[in-house]
Amino acid sequence: MSQLLPNFLKIRTLGAMQHEKIVILDFGGQYAHLIASRIRRLGVLSEIRLPDQTTADDLQEKNIKGIILSGGPQSVFAEDSPRTDDAIFDLGIPVLGICYGHQYLAQALGGKVAPGTTGEFGRAEFTHDGQCPLFENIPSPTVVWMNHVDAVGTFAPGFDPAGSTEHCETAAAFDPKKNFYSVQFHLEVTHTPEGNAIFENFLDLCGCSRDWSVEQFLAEQEAQLQKKVGDKNVFLFVSGGVDSTVTFALLTKVLGPDRVRGLFVDTGLLRQNEVEQVETSIRAIGADLTTLHEADHFLGKLKGITDPEQKREIIGHAFLEVQQQFFKQHNLDESWLLAQGTIYPDTIETGGTQNADKIKTHHNRAPEVQKLIDAGKVIEPVAELYKDEVRRLGELLGLPKELVWRHPFPGPGLGVRILCAPEDIDQPIAEPVNAFTLQRKTRPFVALPIKSVGVQGDFRTYRHPGVLTSVPGEKTLDNLEKFATKLVNHYDDINRCTFLLGQNFSGKISRIQVAQTDISPDRVTRLQQADAIVTRLLREMKVYQDVWQFPVVLIPVAFNGTGSESIVLRPIDSIDAMSASVGKLPWEFFDRAATEILKQDPQISAVLLDCTSKPPGTIEWE
Ligand code: XMP
Repeated sequence: MSQLLPNFLKIRTLGAMQHEKIVILDFGGQYAHLIASRIRRLGVLSEIRLPDQTTADDLQEKNIKGIILSGGPQSVFAEDSPRTDDAIFDLGIPVLGICYGHQYLAQALGGKVAPGTTGEFGRAEFTHDGQCPLFENIPSPTVVWMNHVDAVGTFAPGFDPAGSTEHCETAAAFDPKKNFYSVQFHLEVTHTPEGNAIFENFLDLCGCSRDWSVEQFLAEQEAQLQKKVGDKNVFLFVSGGVDSTVTFALLTKVLGPDRVRGLFVDTGLLRQNEVEQVETSIRAIGADLTTLHEADHFLGKLKGITDPEQKREIIGHAFLEVQQQFFKQHNLDESWLLAQGTIYPDTIETGGTQNADKIKTHHNRAPEVQKLIDAGKVIEPVAELYKDEVRRLGELLGLPKELVWRHPFPGPGLGVRILCAPEDIDQPIAEPVNAFTLQRKTRPFVALPIKSVGVQGDFRTYRHPGVLTSVPGEKTLDNLEKFATKLVNHYDDINRCTFLLGQNFSGKISRIQVAQTDISPDRVTRLQQADAIVTRLLREMKVYQDVWQFPVVLIPVAFNGTGSESIVLRPIDSIDAMSASVGKLPWEFFDRAATEILKQDPQISAVLLDCTSKPPGTIEWE
């Protein structure tokens, strides 16, 4: 194992079992995680390694059955394009190259890559002649997902062509002697319908026996954790999220409640009744949980703060203070270890969004914690697992389904869902708002005088959200989403678009007021109440699992002199949070949610439905 490996990878490797495994060399972007989780779901352990830190020597483990070279955003011609130790191709281990990996393999083994100009993006029809075993039982043609500019010009010696698309003659190749395969398309995305079947073929070609499952993981952890922990005791901070809760349940099951202590920090920025719900479900499995009531501490620090990034920093810092104080007060001696619910994507640098990374890294790799890691006093029992595996483990451990399958919730909690304003604004609206022509003079929306975050191209943008009061054609979510995209592409002062679902006023929007405000306890309660209505309706109407996440956001915006604030509903359909579309729930859901929210709180001026995909909007408003 390379000396260059960061500490967290060393910790993880200590616990690795001798499962058969597929190593994925991560050439960048998000592709490696998608590949790794696909392989695991097919019953083979997968591990992501960094190509520039992996040598052929590192891959000499006898349980490594195959190597996958992932896609990546770079061109092989770029000066700093990622490379690996090409001696790995002499190890006799089967290799599969995907996209960048396809081109890298050609180039490294003596073929040629041709620089492209236009590229091939999205759906393509792949045709093959059935000669390459990677495509055994795969229909031809079959739909595949392309995302490339350069293409292989000449295959390396020993390689035979294995298939093509209309725009790419060299879409697949194989070297039957070496057991090397390579494809230009992305078989890891759901848009390549035969992707899983092709991976299955590769696993067969690697001779994998499929010895990986979460059930197996649990069975092995019992002995492993006993060994790792020895006669020490363990404590951990529970956030109420899936990862830390499952870690807590696992440790409690293996070590018994007397040796595991959980600390739950009530930041005051959790959802309504969340503290009680988390306490109840954790105690139901017999675990020992102490709640630290720190709402005053967190809200005190946030007083007067309106800037989103500053809020995130303050919340992250307040967590650390609580932890540090705990370390100090309890004078933790040699008999204690710290456990953390770090999961696999957190330990690999490409995972998550910029913000998620920042906050998570902040928590799990804070200097105080890093010191403990260096001293060997930290265990991370689910650090090898993906989220869906952690959820499965939670179920096996008997945690309630509602807890295990909860929507993801950001680390800073409701703190990033309560928009603040540094000053009062009072703006009369003179324009008509339902003319549907795309002309800068007659805008079919009202731009709110606040800003929210979006992601356009490679950049985060802070721009105004638009409000639509009607939509051309049928009032469907599909139509709204399409129209929102058109508007955001056309008008460069907005980065997302909402639809007015319900309001406290009649007639057209004629005035918008923004009140100077920070995160006050009243505003937290206001958002908690609206959020609770949404969660209850999602469950009552049995559509909770039909959306991936559903942020409810409080904005300090009042229309036509009614109320003081408004609520935004943000239903999300996504797989990995990197891209997202609007969660397509029935209209009845939105109508009921808007009606109940307005009825419950007369201070709510309007309820808006965010109908922007990501990009150009982000999932959260801050
Ligand atoms: P965005 O808003 O970037 O969100 O599209 C993507 C995913 O990340 C979550 N998120 C966060 N999680 N700390 C977290 O732990 C944060 O500061 C943070 N910001 C966004 C968000 O809920 C979504 O699932």
